[in-house]
Amino acid sequence: MTGIPDPTGNFARLMQLYLTLHSDHESGNVSAFTTHTVGSALSDAYYALSAGLNGLAGPLHGLANQECLGWIIMVKEKFGRVPTNEQLEKFAWETLNSGKVVPGYGHAVLRITDPRFDAFMAFGKKYCADDPVFQLVAKVFDVVPEVLKQVQKIKDPWPNVDAISGSLLHHFGMTEFDYYTVLFSISRALGVCSQLVISRGIQSAIVRPKSVTTEWIKKTVGAA
Ligand SMILES: CC(C)(COP(=O)(O)OP(=O)(O)OC[C@H]1O[C@@H](n2cnc3c(N)ncnc32)[C@H](O)[C@@H]1OP(=O)(O)O)[C@@H](O)C(=O)NCCC(=O)NCCS
Repeated sequence: MTGIPDPTGNFARLMQLYLTLHSDHESGNVSAFTTHTVGSALSDAYYALSAGLNGLAGPLHGLANQECLGWIIMVKEKFGRVPTNEQLEKFAWETLNSGKVVPGYGHAVLRITDPRFDAFMAFGKKYCADDPVFQLVAKVFDVVPEVLKQVQKIKDPWPNVDAISGSLLHHFGMTEFDYYTVLFSISRALGVCSQLVISRGIQSAIVRPKSVTTEWIKKTVGAA
């Protein structure tokens, strides 16, 4: 249905992997948690999912996958070829020092390379090894964690799924970056809607954040 020619069947293989990996979530991320929260008010699944997907559109969440490929292409265009490790290291510092995040790196929970990144890397090595964009993604993986480890506040210097997914779509001719988060959404819908059914089945309670009193706030900031 994407219209991408697939004489080898490898794009279909990628889609199987892509849709499976992106449906997986650990409930605590923005799209999964928002879907759960809205669903917990007994809104129907359409409203709950659409709320979650609005969260997926944020650059710190799902949109990172297209931002990440944009960053990779920018590096490639800047250096005109696959840069050396030293050039890449310098460029990563420039990104950080300009107050931007290195997209595709870091995670709120994981403290290891995202297993979904590993699965995509294995796929890329098998089917896209000669692609310069994929090669650059692999090189970034060699260099960027060592840079991020030097920034004390960053808890997880390792790549997440978004660091690599776009390069594989790009390899097979899906070059419309704006569409990447749409694919992510289709897949995420499978995961969060399954969770909605379970939540409704076990009659899980309405979600709300913990409330605190003005007294508690005053005491906590030392103003009591
Ligand atoms: C995913 C992410 C939002 C997690 O944020 P978090 O839970 O606050 O992560 P941390 O506790 O490690 O963040 C501590 C600090 O390090 C910064 N940091 C984390 N990852 C970073 C990265 N890849 N590049 C630059 N700075 C980063 C955070 O912005 C934060 O800075 P601040 O205190 O000045 O606001 C964050 O790592 C990020 O923005 N990554 C890039 C975007 C991305 O890949 N998103 C997809 C996630 S699946």
